[in-house]
Parts: sequence; C-alpha cells; structure tokens
Amino acid sequence: MAMGYSKEIIEAANRAMEQRRRQSITKAEQRRRSFFSRYPRALEIERELSRTAAKAAKAVLTGSNARLELERLKESNQALQSELAALLKSAGVSEDYLEIRYACPLCKDEGYVDGKMCSCMKQLLRDEAYQRLNALSPLSLSSFDTFSLDYYGEAPLKAGGIPPKKRMEDIYRYCKNYAANFDPQLSPSLLMQGATGLGKTHLSLAIARAAIGKGFGVIYCSAPNIIGKLEKERFRSARGSADESDVYLLECDLLILDDLGTEFPTSFSSSTIYNMINSRLMASRPTIISTNLTMRELEKQYSQRLVSRIMGNHVRLEFLGSDVRQKKRLIR
Ligand SMILES: Nc1ncnc2c1ncn2[C@@H]1O[C@H](COP(=O)(O)OP(=O)(O)OP(=O)(O)O)[C@@H](O)[C@H]1O
Ligand SMILES: [Mg+2]
Repeated sequence: MAMGYSKEIIEAANRAMEQRRRQSITKAEQRRRSFFSRYPRALEIERELSRTAAKAAKAVLTGSNARLELERLKESNQALQSELAALLKSAGVSEDYLEIRYACPLCKDEGYVDGKMCSCMKQLLRDEAYQRLNALSPLSLSSFDTFSLDYYGEAPLKAGGIPPKKRMEDIYRYCKNYAANFDPQLSPSLLMQGATGLGKTHLSLAIARAAIGKGFGVIYCSAPNIIGKLEKERFRSARGSADESDVYLLECDLLILDDLGTEFPTSFSSSTIYNMINSRLMASRPTIISTNLTMRELEKQYSQRLVSRIMGNHVRLEFLGSDVRQKKRLIR
C-alpha cells in the first residue's frame, strides 16, 4: 500500500523503531548482567559455546578429520546447552532469558523484512499520524459513535424546507459510508457547508479517524493555520520552491481543509488555496473542505476559477440546524 505519509511522520516512526530496538537490546543486557552475577558459570558456558562454534568452523575449513572433530564438538555443545538450560530453570526464568526479546520477532525491530515494510512499522506510522492529528484536534471525541442526531430539530427552518434532522440523517449516513469505503483513488472530494456548530469538523474528523485506522495518510488543517505555516516556510526558504509540508498537502491520501474562509484574505492565501485544491483535483486525490460560507460568499471571497472547481468536483453536504455547541453548553 502506497501511503502518503510526510517525511516528518516517517522520520518519527523510524526514531520510534530505533528506540524500540535499542530498548530490547538494553533490557537483554540488563538481564544478562544480573544473571551472570548470580550464576558466573552461565557466562563461562556462553564463552565455551562461542569457542566451540569457532572451532567447528575451523575444523570444516581445514578439512582434516573434520567429521570426527565436528561430532565431538557437537556433543560438548549439547552438554553445555543443557547445563545452561538447567541453570535457567533452577533460577526460575524462561529459556530465552539471556536472549534479546524483540517487540516484533518478525523484523527484529528493524521495521523491514526482506526489504518490505513490516506490519509493526505500518502500525507505528499510523500511530504517529494519529498522534499528530490528535494534537491539533479533539479527535478522540469526534467519532461517528459520539455524533447524535438528537440535536437537530424536526421542524423545517423555513416553510416547505427540509427538516434539519432529516438532512443531518442523510449527511451522517453518507459520511459513515464514505469512511467505511474510503479509497484515496476513488472517493470523491466533499464540501461541508453550514453555520457554526453543526458538526462539520466533528464528522470530518470522524472520517479522518476511520481512514487513519485503515492505514491511510491523512492530514487535518484549518485554513488559517496552514496559510500561516506555509507563509512562514516560504519566508524562511527564499528558494520559493515546494517545501516538505507543501508536498505532503498535495500527496496525502486525504486532506481535510477546515474553516475555509476564516483565513486572512491576501493574494498569497487565495493563490495557495487555489493551488492546493486544484492540484489535488488534478491528481484525483480527495479533499474534505468545511466552510461557513455560502456559495455566494465563496464567490465573493475567491476567484470564479476556484468556486467553479469546488462546485463541479465536490459532493456538497449542506448542514442544517442550530448551533450544537451552544446546545451542549446549555445541557451541561
Ligand atoms: N451531532 C452532534 N452530536 C454530538 N456532538 C456534536 C454534534 N455536532 C456537533 N457536536 C459537537 O459540538 C461542537 C461543535 O461541532 P463542530 O466543531 O463539528 O462544528 P462545526 O460545524 O465545525 O462548526 P464551525 O463552523 O464553527 O467550525 C463539537 O464539540 C462537536 O463535537
Ligand atoms: Mg469546524
């Protein structure tokens, strides 16, 4: 599975793996030290064992009487092994007590087996991505399970309109389905529109959570944050070329661009947002955009080019209701 993790996440996962390996080794060293101090004979046995191994190699190389010599070495080797096993047993520890116990016996905490990424490394990448996302948002609280339809009214907001509850039921079902079947090559981009506190961020994070759980690379950012970050990076690197976070924004499996329209409008912000959305569309990579702005307001704030791209290529979800944030505060 090709996963669009950022360099930052990959490096963090590599560091975590390295630390895991070092810890396995350190722990084995500690066990060995304490065991040998109690049973000095065990250390002697280990040394003799490595000496017999060296002798066996030599016997094979020189060839003279190799078979007889090997036979003899094998016997003494077995005697040493069982003596060591008896020592371990009498000490009440397991057979592998003196050996390195890797967290992952498959890859020996290297992260790769035969040049392929081990499943434990994939899990680490997922954890790192999840942690980063979690640091930015209350991800743990935003799941489909904690989303309730009880906050939305049964009565239409205007005569002949759709009851908010009905609309939100549809949106909830759509998002849940979207998350369950998420595929970075096939899933469409979404535009979540609606007033404040209706659950846009909540549902987009619930989707993010599900996608991360499946091992996809997800990035969550709010428009003002990402514009600020990119502006700083551009300022620092006079190169003016694409930076790491730039590349990741374009290449991650799912980009969540929250609070579109709340960034300070400049020519930099509008061209950056246009490029981000357009490049992802060109590469058929899904983006979930959330905004308080109506279509008309979007048209006012952004170029016709951007709005027509959003309109033409995003599934539009119009959230209805009245501020859940406030309702929750009142209940508490
Ligand atoms: N249907 C719901 N069930 C449970 N909690 C909800 C629901 N909708 C929103 N919330 C909670 O209410 C708060 C506001 O929701 P959220 O941040 O998703 O709103 P939003 O539509 O993104 O608003 P804004 O436009 O201001 O960003 C969050 O704490 C969220 O978890
Ligand atoms: Mg929000």
